[in-house]
Amino acid sequence: MPEYKLVIEGGRVLQGETYVSGGKNTSLAVVPAALLAESPCLIENLPDIEDIRVLVQILRHLGAKVDWLPQKNQMSIDPTQLTTNIVPFHLSQKMRASYYLMGALLGRYGFAKVGYPGGCNLGSRPIDQHLKGFRALGAKIREDKGMIVLEGKLKGANINFDMVTVGGTINVMLAACRAEGDTILTNCAKEPHIVDTANFLNRIGARIRGAGTDTIRIRGVKKLGGGSYTVIPDQIETGTLMIAAAATRGNVILRGCIPTHMEALTAKLLEMGVLVTSEDDIISVQLRQGHRAIRLSTQEYPGFPTDLQQPMSALLTRAVGTSEVIENIFDSRFKHLDEMRKMGAKSVINGRIAYIEGVPELHGAPLVAPDLRGGAALVIAGLMANGITEIYNPETIARGYEHLESKLNALGGIVRRENIQTGNTVYANSF
Ligand code: EPU
Repeated sequence: MPEYKLVIEGGRVLQGETYVSGGKNTSLAVVPAALLAESPCLIENLPDIEDIRVLVQILRHLGAKVDWLPQKNQMSIDPTQLTTNIVPFHLSQKMRASYYLMGALLGRYGFAKVGYPGGCNLGSRPIDQHLKGFRALGAKIREDKGMIVLEGKLKGANINFDMVTVGGTINVMLAACRAEGDTILTNCAKEPHIVDTANFLNRIGARIRGAGTDTIRIRGVKKLGGGSYTVIPDQIETGTLMIAAAATRGNVILRGCIPTHMEALTAKLLEMGVLVTSEDDIISVQLRQGHRAIRLSTQEYPGFPTDLQQPMSALLTRAVGTSEVIENIFDSRFKHLDEMRKMGAKSVINGRIAYIEGVPELHGAPLVAPDLRGGAALVIAGLMANGITEIYNPETIARGYEHLESKLNALGGIVRRENIQTGNTVYANSF
């Protein structure tokens, strides 16, 4: 297997327009949710990313007929002839969102056997709240050689999550759609992709109210039909591109986004001295003055998203003054800052707090992408740095960003993918 690295020639100012792709985390929930239907579904605006390709593998393994057209960002899913309810470990561990197969298969068939989920290593990532919800709905759960087996006829229940969990909220919502009677979920996460998944389920016949608030009410229905649905734009890709624009002191227009999903980031960029304006589905980012250091604390939506903490803390390495970044959601989400020390960035990490002392310049260096958003943070670092930055393990970035290199290149960045063995450029400027 050839190995690749990203090569970034830093110091270019990003300018011009690009578009935002469909939401990764909403797609990773909506596609498994289609297994609850009893007729085919057509899902549009799905991003062409590695995690979606893995999901296609899983659905086909289950016997679903999947027609994935990446050029059209469109997938049709016919879940009517599933041949197994077992998701083997080698597939489940390829991604975090494989946990949604538990809720979808359990909700539809009353039985699921799914390997533990994989995904980015951000410290401990238990799924006890998902399992607590399934149990409350009546599932019996046991472990069998590293697989989780869930079984039972589900009945509506009142479930209060012990902590706010995105995956847990969606997963239990999936399972409850076809349970007998009413379910009330409290202390729910409110992220846009929870609303989007509920909208999709309602479109195909579910009865879910309150998604986007901390209480979600679900009236179980006997059957879900098929239908078509277009997923919302990616909140985190929007934010990553906004930060990249600010980092290069550029002037960028992003089309096809939802500005209200970006309020927490916009407020922080404005505080730093970046000019952000929006109208309809367009956001413009422009540097007004030098970047100022800020204090930032990640929170559940509508707070500052943990997924943008890494790109944002990369930007803060060049701000004037010392920034304080508090990561409240995950134990270990600062590995990109360790990498960035090789570029001359200065930070001190104390548990979940990073103190970042801005430096006047960064220099290119060979780096290893530690995880998806940490990898995106290093791309931003490479764009800001003087000279050449190489990023190894770029596959982790491709898991979650559609055409990132070509979008950045279309804005005037220079980012290419090189075969490590041959030095050949394998993918660049194909926008
Ligand atoms: N938690 C538990 N028990 C649970 C569930 C969560 O203790 O049963 C804890 C987690 O350990 C974490 C916190 O609660 O400390 C929040 O976790 P959450 O369940 O909200 O996160 P997730 O479902 O594992 C999703 C996204 C992440 C995103 C988080 C937070 C998907 C596939 N993943 O993860 O996305 O960071 O929500 O918004 O939707 C990414 O896209 O790079 C990414 C990591």
